[in-house]
Amino acid sequence: MLPDQAKKIITELTEKINFYSDEYYQKGESSINDNEFDLMLDQLKSLEDQFPDMVLPDSPTSRVGGKPISEFINVRHSIPMLSLGNVYNAEELKDWYQTIIKKIDNRDISWVCEVKIDGFAISIIYENGQFKQAVTRGNGEIGDDVSQNIKTIRSLPLSIKKTESIVVRGEVYLSRERFDQINQLRQKEDLSLFKNPRNAAAGSIRIKDTRIVAQRGLDLLLYDIVAGFHQDTHSQNLSDMESYLLPVNTYRKTCHSYESVLEFCRKWESGKKTLPFDIDGVVIKVDQLDIRRQLGYTIKIPRWAVAWKFKSQKVSSRLLGVENSIGRTGVLTPVANLEPVELIGTIVKRATLHNYDQVERLGIFESDTLFVEKGGDIIPKIVGVDYTKRLENAKPIVKPLNCPVCSHLLSHENKDVDIKCINASCPAVVRGALEHFISKKGMDIQHFGVANINLFIDQGLINNIPDIYRLKDHKEKLTILEGFGEKSIDNLLKAIDFSKQTPLNQLIYAFGISNIGEKAAKTLAGESKILDGFMTLTEEKLSRVADFGPIMIQSVLDWIKKPENVAIVQKLISLGVRPETFEITATSDFQGRSVVITGTLSKSRNEWKTNLEAVGFKVISAVSKKTSYLMVGENPGSKYRKAKTLDIKILTESEMEAILRSDLSPDT
Ligand code: IVH
Repeated sequence: MLPDQAKKIITELTEKINFYSDEYYQKGESSINDNEFDLMLDQLKSLEDQFPDMVLPDSPTSRVGGKPISEFINVRHSIPMLSLGNVYNAEELKDWYQTIIKKIDNRDISWVCEVKIDGFAISIIYENGQFKQAVTRGNGEIGDDVSQNIKTIRSLPLSIKKTESIVVRGEVYLSRERFDQINQLRQKEDLSLFKNPRNAAAGSIRIKDTRIVAQRGLDLLLYDIVAGFHQDTHSQNLSDMESYLLPVNTYRKTCHSYESVLEFCRKWESGKKTLPFDIDGVVIKVDQLDIRRQLGYTIKIPRWAVAWKFKSQKVSSRLLGVENSIGRTGVLTPVANLEPVELIGTIVKRATLHNYDQVERLGIFESDTLFVEKGGDIIPKIVGVDYTKRLENAKPIVKPLNCPVCSHLLSHENKDVDIKCINASCPAVVRGALEHFISKKGMDIQHFGVANINLFIDQGLINNIPDIYRLKDHKEKLTILEGFGEKSIDNLLKAIDFSKQTPLNQLIYAFGISNIGEKAAKTLAGESKILDGFMTLTEEKLSRVADFGPIMIQSVLDWIKKPENVAIVQKLISLGVRPETFEITATSDFQGRSVVITGTLSKSRNEWKTNLEAVGFKVISAVSKKTSYLMVGENPGSKYRKAKTLDIKILTESEMEAILRSDLSPDT
C-alpha cells in the first residue's frame, strides 16, 4: 500500500472508531455491532504497525495498550493540585458555612455539592482538541505522566470539539464490580488480593504494561476545569465540559441553603452503597468564581471548598504487639499497638481489642495486618484481619495466665468474657481505684492529680482509699517530696478535708462500683439519703427503683456485701467522711422533664447541664417527640428545626435562667 493511501485509511478508521467508541462510552448507544468494531480496530492496528509514523495522536489503539512504558516522567503542574479541608459533622459544616457567609457581605451565593469518589486525582490537558497529557497529583506540584495508562479509560475522549487548550481534573477509580472481578481472578492465580478499589486503582495506574492496565478497566469522572474555561460559575463550567462529551461527575447538586447542603451530605452518607463506586464523602464548593477569588486559599487548601468526610472509615495497619492493661476493677483489656496510621485526621497507634473473646473471634495472629475503623464515636476499632498479609509461621495471640502487673493468677470464669486480676492489692487495681475516687465526677479533690497518686503510692504513703484521709499524719514525709512546698501541702490537705462533705451521690460514684455510673449513683443517693442508708440497701428496695435492672442491682448488692468494702466505708466514717445528704427535690416542677441544648451558649454546656440537672431536669442530646424543652443559644442547628417541626417548647438562655430563678414557670 502506498503511504498516501495508508494515511487516508488510517485517518478514516481513527475517526470512525473514535466516533463509535464515544457513542458507546459517552452516550451508551451503539450503531454497529462488536464484530464490526473489532474488525476496524484490527485493520487500524495492522496499518499502524506497517506505518508507525502515521499513528495519529488520538488513535483508539492506544486504549488497548502498546509498548511497555520504561518509566513515568515527572511533570510540573501548571496549576498546583491542592487538597481539601475536612468536616466530620453538621456542627463543623455549619461553622465552615457560616464563616463564608460572614465574609461575603450578603451577596448571593450557591453551593455545588459533589460526591467525593475514593480513587486518585488526575490532571488532564487537551491541546488543539486532542488529549495531550495526564498527570497524577504527586506532591501537588509535580506528578507522574501516566498518559498512556489514562488513555485506556474508554469513557475519556481522545479528541474533543474545542480547540482551545484546557486543563481538567477528576478522580480515577475502579468500580466495585471490576474490583471484585480482578480480585477473583487474582485469587485463582494465587496472587495477593487488593484491599479495596482505591488501592487497586492506584496500583493499576503504576503498571508499566498498558495492555494490563487496559484489562483492569479503570474509569474516570471529572470534577473541575482549571484552565480554558469561560463561565462565571463552577456549575456552568461543568455543563460546558459535558457539552464537549467529557465524563463529568453527575452525582452533584447546586444548593442554595445550608439545609440543602446538609441534606445532600446525609443522603449520600446513607446511600453510598447505591453507587457503583466507592465514595468517602461529599465535596462542597462555592459556585461563584468571583466569590472563590475573594475567599482565596490558606497555604494548602482553598477556603471556598470543603470535604464532608463520612464517619466510618477503614484503614489497615500492622500489629506491633498486644499490651495487656489492668483497669480499676481488675479487668484485663488487651490493647493493640499498631504501626501509626492516619484515620479521619488523627494518627492511630493503639486500639482496644476489648477482651480475649474478641481476639479469638477475629482470629488475630502475631504481626497480622489489622483493619481499623472509626465509627461515629471517634474511637478507633479493630474490625478485622487482612488474612492475605499474614506472615508465614505467625502464631495466634494467646491469652495470658498471669496478671501483667502483679503476676497473680488471672481468673477467667467461663460465663464471663472478662479475664480479671482478683488480687485486691494489685498495684494497677489500687492505682485505678484511687484515680477514680479523686476524679472530678467522684470526690473532686482539688490539687490532687494522677501524678500525685503515682508519687504517693511509690513513696508508700497511700495504698487504699482511706489512706487519702490519713495523709495529714504524714506531713513531714510530704515536705521532703520534690515539688511540694508548705503551701501546696496545705492546699492539698485542706482540699482532702473539704471532700469529706462531698455529696453522697459523688461518693457512691467514686467507689467505682461496676455498672454504676454518674446517673445511677444519683438515683442510689436519692434512695439512701445517707451513707449508712446506702450500705444497708436491700434487694427489695433496689428492685423498686426505676431504671434499675437486675445487673445494676446485683452489682450494688455484691459491692455493699463485700467485707473489704464494708471495712473501707467504716474506716472512711471513722476518719470523718460525712457526705452531704443528697436530696432529690421530688416536688420539683422540672422533675423528669427533658431538655436538649443547642447552639453557642454564654456558659459552658457542662455548667448548664449541672445547673439543669440540679433541679431535676434530664439533659439529653437528641430532640424527639418526648423532649420537653429545647434551650437555644446562638446559631442553633438542625435540632432547632426539628424541635419546631415537633412543636417542642423553645426557650432562650435568659428564659431558662428566669425559670431556674423561679421567676417563670416552665409552662408559661
Ligand atoms: S475538588 C482544590 N471534587 O478528593 C479542590 N475533589 O480530599 C480540589 N475528590 O485530591 C479537589 N471527588 O482526589 C474535588 N468532586 C470532587 C472530588 C474530589 C474526589 C478527591 C480529589 C482530591 C481529594 C481531596
